[in-house]
Amino acid sequence: SAAEKGGYDYFMLKEIAEQPRAVADTLLGRIGADGRLVLDEMRLTDEQLREIDKIIIVACGTAYHAGLIAKYAIEHWAGLPCEVELASEFRYRDPILTRTTLVIAISQSGETMDTLMAVRHAREQHARVLAVCNVNGSTIPRECDGVLYTHAGPEVGVAATKTFLTQLVAVYLIALYLGQVRGTKWGDEVFAMIQLLERMPEKVEKVLETMEPVRELARSLADGHCVLFLGRHVGFPVALEGALKLKELAYMQAEGFAAGELKHGPIALIDKDLPVVVVVPPRARAVLHDKIVSNIQEIRARGARTIVIAEEGDASVEPYADTLIRVPAVPTLLQPLVTTVPLQVFACELATAKGHDVDQPRNLAKSVTVE
Ligand code: G6P
Repeated sequence: SAAEKGGYDYFMLKEIAEQPRAVADTLLGRIGADGRLVLDEMRLTDEQLREIDKIIIVACGTAYHAGLIAKYAIEHWAGLPCEVELASEFRYRDPILTRTTLVIAISQSGETMDTLMAVRHAREQHARVLAVCNVNGSTIPRECDGVLYTHAGPEVGVAATKTFLTQLVAVYLIALYLGQVRGTKWGDEVFAMIQLLERMPEKVEKVLETMEPVRELARSLADGHCVLFLGRHVGFPVALEGALKLKELAYMQAEGFAAGELKHGPIALIDKDLPVVVVVPPRARAVLHDKIVSNIQEIRARGARTIVIAEEGDASVEPYADTLIRVPAVPTLLQPLVTTVPLQVFACELATAKGHDVDQPRNLAKSVTVE
């Protein structure tokens, strides 16, 4: 009913709007008075966590994209090697798992069969298994050694939005906690990041306040057939997520690419007027940033319509952006929390303009309980 949707036409719109609250709820009670993380609820002791020498993340769909971003955070802050695998592929190769491997299963519903099977496989090989999950008491966390809940609240829209942002918060917490427990060389940075995480709800709120031009852009592209998304570093999984949202909701051909791969193939797709969304890393990552700015120039020279997502104050992209979407300046690893939001709004609005029901896209289920 309209009341359940809180006055919004779709649950998805309501859930996008709830993201600042959801991010705050996932942080709630997990940062101690001394500014250190407290994650006792995970049920894995600090001693057990110090023994871990490798991490493997398994997930499907949007949760897999959260896993891809987690890899950057875990390798950096925790200083541990990290692999990310689609849950449906995991047990069909021969993953090397030991008692000192931590497998992290990310699943909003906690019921996705592929992810559950990956968890069972990991446990049979005696790995430790931790769930990142949104639904209390669901199957996956019940079969894991430990769990970190995302506290996003119920998500009704089939396309994941607030649960994705809170999965990111949860994996940042895990990466930072491992850094804290293991005492890596990034100690000061870990401490600073924990404080910055607390400011992320207001940054997400700020993005939401500036989305009208994104909605206008989406409506103007409703007759299109294809959109490309490019990113580097954590912007690459964000590009994948932007493309997935568009496929799921607008039934459009949409592909996400690592911008560095452009010259190895995807550039052949660039055509006059093709919309290309580019996620630009913060200027602080000068090398990455400048490389992607050259990519934008390359694709624009070939006639593409460039839609650029860049941090506030980044003037370097202005000459090459047909549409410029601004996001608050935040550290690179945290940037997906702000750059994903315009892509959600974009897909939702474009699909609505096409006349689709964004809460119940054709052929999709909220959770897939078959393999
Ligand atoms: C389905 C949903 C996706 C979701 C995926 C994984 O395909 O349509 O939105 O990302 O399952 O779901 P999970 O509950 O495991 O995160």
